[in-house]
Amino acid sequence: MYSTKIAGIGKYVPDKEVTNHDLEKVMDTSDEWIQERTGIKSRRYGEKHKETTTTMGARASEIAIERAGVSKEDIDFIIFATLSPDYYFPGCGVLLQRELGITGTEIGALDIRNQCSGFVYGLTVADQFIKSGMYKNILLVGAEMHSMGLDFSTEGRGVTVIFGDGAGAVVLQRGPEGHEGILASHLHSDGTHAEELAMINPGSHGGYHLGKENFGYPEDKEYGGIFLTDKMVEEGMIFPNMTGQLVFKKAVQKFPEVILEALQTAGLKTKDIKILIPHQANLRIAQFVQKILKLEDRQVYNNIDKFGNTTAASIPIALCEAWEDGRIDNGDLVCLAAFGSGFTWGSVLLKW
Ligand code: ACO
Repeated sequence: MYSTKIAGIGKYVPDKEVTNHDLEKVMDTSDEWIQERTGIKSRRYGEKHKETTTTMGARASEIAIERAGVSKEDIDFIIFATLSPDYYFPGCGVLLQRELGITGTEIGALDIRNQCSGFVYGLTVADQFIKSGMYKNILLVGAEMHSMGLDFSTEGRGVTVIFGDGAGAVVLQRGPEGHEGILASHLHSDGTHAEELAMINPGSHGGYHLGKENFGYPEDKEYGGIFLTDKMVEEGMIFPNMTGQLVFKKAVQKFPEVILEALQTAGLKTKDIKILIPHQANLRIAQFVQKILKLEDRQVYNNIDKFGNTTAASIPIALCEAWEDGRIDNGDLVCLAAFGSGFTWGSVLLKW
């Protein structure tokens, strides 16, 4: 089997910085509440009507491709992870291909809808394609433009203050057999609490399975339905919802489990980790995980204070920043771990 290495990495965060104090002006919240519960001081928002999830992903990709020392035409597969796509369909993978100007190569493009763990899932899928010899240079992107889909009234404050926009990308490249690169990856899910961290509308559920009222779906028609009803819009049922304490409880259990699982597979110990890049869900979660695993401060990288939670983009943005800051050298053991909506979670252990 071949090996898989990260040959190039890039990130893009929009210029517009939105501080907690800026949010205090539009909803009943406070800098103190946000910092104390989440560790977030500010986040970035993309420029409305000019930037999208795809365009941000493309900017990060251009940097990753250049740093990998390949040309756009060398990319032979695209994987795009996001929960805030430009369109309901088609996915961002094909839009990215067009934005990068590589439609002529007619390569495949795959979208991943795994929210916070999307990048880790994408990395694992790409790793299989590369190790099997199917592809040589895969472009993997995690990008989000949350700011277009959040509730900026006080009712939405529990979710809205947490999220930010941005993108990260890597070029994954085939290496010779026996080389290190990606050492282990583990993916998990448990759909029991699927609706506890979710945006269920628009969707085909028609109220089914949710034990709630029918969301304004017309009942007088035998055929046809509607994904989005006036009632959903009027009552703000078009925004993400989160049962924060359940997410916290599950996250602090599953993050350490899946990190230890990766280390065990690779026959390594927590002390061997040069840097852990946890999905930037919430600083309190990351600190809890660090404590459980008894990791030193220098072993854990967090940047949620500056960018908020950028879901599928958070790991590649943090990984890129850590690398740019000189925190990762060739041969270092890097651990990536994520937990989020679904619930889905996973980890990837790699030698840089
Ligand atoms: N500003 C001010 N007050 C707020 C805000 C806000 N932004 N949001 C909620 N509140 C209020 C609530 O209305 C409530 O008020 P009440 O007591 O008068 O009813 C009070 O604060 C406490 O609300 P809780 O929801 O109980 O707050 P909690 O202490 O649980 O903190 C939080 C909420 C930060 C979300 C916490 O549950 C948590 O850390 N959960 C983990 C979830 C998480 O980090 N998710 C990240 C995204 S998902 C992911 O990436 C995995």
